[in-house]
Amino acid sequence: MKVLLGVTGSVAAIRTPEIYHALRQVGHEVKVVATQAALYFFDPASIDPMNPGRPERNRQVVILDEDEWPGQDIGRRYERDDPVLHIELRRWAEVLVIAPLDANTLAKLAAGLADNCLTCVWRAWDPNRPVILAPAMNTLMWEHPLTAKHLRRLAIDHGAGGAWASPKASEQLDLEELLDWINKSCPKLHIVPPVSKRLACGDVGVGAMAAVTEIVKAVEEQIEGPVESGRKASGEPSDKREAALDSVKEEHAKATASIVSICVSAEAASWVELLGMEAEFEKMLEHAKASIPALRSIDVTLNRQPSQRVEAQVFLMATMDDPALDDDVAQATKLNWDKWVMDSFSPDVNRHFVMTTRYEPSSETR
Ligand SMILES: Cc1cc2nc3c(=O)[nH]c(=O)nc-3n(C[C@H](O)[C@H](O)[C@H](O)COP(=O)(O)O)c2cc1C
Repeated sequence: MKVLLGVTGSVAAIRTPEIYHALRQVGHEVKVVATQAALYFFDPASIDPMNPGRPERNRQVVILDEDEWPGQDIGRRYERDDPVLHIELRRWAEVLVIAPLDANTLAKLAAGLADNCLTCVWRAWDPNRPVILAPAMNTLMWEHPLTAKHLRRLAIDHGAGGAWASPKASEQLDLEELLDWINKSCPKLHIVPPVSKRLACGDVGVGAMAAVTEIVKAVEEQIEGPVESGRKASGEPSDKREAALDSVKEEHAKATASIVSICVSAEAASWVELLGMEAEFEKMLEHAKASIPALRSIDVTLNRQPSQRVEAQVFLMATMDDPALDDDVAQATKLNWDKWVMDSFSPDVNRHFVMTTRYEPSSETR
């Protein structure tokens, strides 16, 4: 399939190369159309560069707003029969994915504003071709009533039906119910729900873009219908695609395992130093990273003042959408790391996992 990947100005746009490769890996031909703001978060020359030695943007693959107005900077004017890029892209693409979709572009999609290449493609889009949107924004933005209002507008424009089809009735739905209703009643529109995690701004809450695997899965399902245990819903075997999807999941797990962010509070750092246990501490963190692949970040804070038998509270964050998470949690609860003793490991309301460990310098290696 020819997939057009729209990218907007959310921090999650750093994952553009990853989404691009994941879509290529399951066999799609992919072009990227990025807004100006998106370019703050990824390098367009990093995607299938023309010359890998001296990377240069591949203009056939990554399209920017400037490509809509070729030569404008040197005073060139439009000439009859010059191609109109957003219409060419609209003709080329069979599926439109916007990931991440930021609050600004969501509002533009809902209102029909067409002031850049991506929104022009949207404005010209064939309603019979699938669209997959993966919103990403700060929790405060996500929970603002304008988000639901704009999503409702998209739903109604995409023929949402049923009891909630009137704007008044659908106002009664909370965001989760709204997405559910949209996904069930708009055959050509699918919203990949954002997930809860610590956002780039430091807030914890819903708004982070869904995992790349979820986005790819949504694309596959929009194209082929829901995949059920190795078979498409139609009953046709889809082993090849399933295998490709599995390998995307594996690569994603490997890629994310290596980018666990670690934040140690000043008190915890001085405690580690005071006890001269830097190496032990590093080992514990490495062990946590290696044994919990779904781990995204570790925050280390102290529960008590340093003493011979001290407790450190280690706050672990793991994304809830990762398919491996439940296994990881089961695995993690069995762990004892050298002189670190696991006291408790429990999910909080957002399915972040708070693990309390005790450091016992005198205990035997477990
Ligand atoms: C560092 C930074 C991060 C941002 N992250 C987001 C985000 O995750 N979601 C969002 O809706 N807006 C975010 N914004 C704001 C958008 O980039 C801004 O609204 C921009 O005008 C969007 O333009 P676009 O929709 O044309 O891409 C961020 C801005 C900055 C400076």
